Amino acid sequence: MSDFFAMEPGEVAAPVPDGPILCSGTAGMRRVHRVFLWAYDEAPGLVRSAAPGDTERSTYVGAVLANIDKVLHVHHESEDQLMYPQLRERAPACALHVDQMLAQHAEVKVMLDDLAPIRDRWTATADQEAGEDLARRYETLSATLKAHLRREVTEVMPAVDRVLTVEEFDKLSEHGFDEFEKKVVIAYLGMILAVNPIEDQREFLKEVPAFARLAYRLVGKRMYRKQYATLFPGRPIPETI
Ligand SMILES: [Fe+2]
Repeated sequence: MSDFFAMEPGEVAAPVPDGPILCSGTAGMRRVHRVFLWAYDEAPGLVRSAAPGDTERSTYVGAVLANIDKVLHVHHESEDQLMYPQLRERAPACALHVDQMLAQHAEVKVMLDDLAPIRDRWTATADQEAGEDLARRYETLSATLKAHLRREVTEVMPAVDRVLTVEEFDKLSEHGFDEFEKKVVIAYLGMILAVNPIEDQREFLKEVPAFARLAYRLVGKRMYRKQYATLFPGRPIPETI
């Protein structure tokens, strides 16, 4: 799974500033990016899994996709505010990479903004044409994210590990949590766990706030399993800790 995050020929990492490693941002970012990579791989198929006019299914799937779109948006927004300005200021040699990553975030934002009304219309109607339009848009977004989410980890995060403190990185990870209902956060923890190898699942759970860890154990795991079974009927549910 982790082999995905490898540089491709011609790609160059941002210069890593001198000094000690202050936080384990690279590892944390890899864990979170895996859930987006997985979700947008699945999104086109999920949209197409609702038969035209099956609004019960489109309502369910559309709500999950809307939440994932929002999580992705909030994730980028938190980096725009709490990671890239700090990197630019503390490691000026990374400026070109910062500009490139911010431009990729802007590109993704346009895609999310453009698809949102189509997603909402499809959610409400299960209209075939809107569904096909939406599925194709998710395919394009998925391809864009495969490059962006990989390159952010391989090219930028090693420098971030040396400029952000643990406290600052924690703040970045927690940013935007309040914008979601608790039950959404808790069920989505299961999705993040499911796409990560077991060592990463352990590390990830250690890093989430105590209330979320407890709630995941009490109800979140069951909510995640039910959600997975509804999204992908008949598929084995990936195990999580
Ligand atoms: Fe990221």
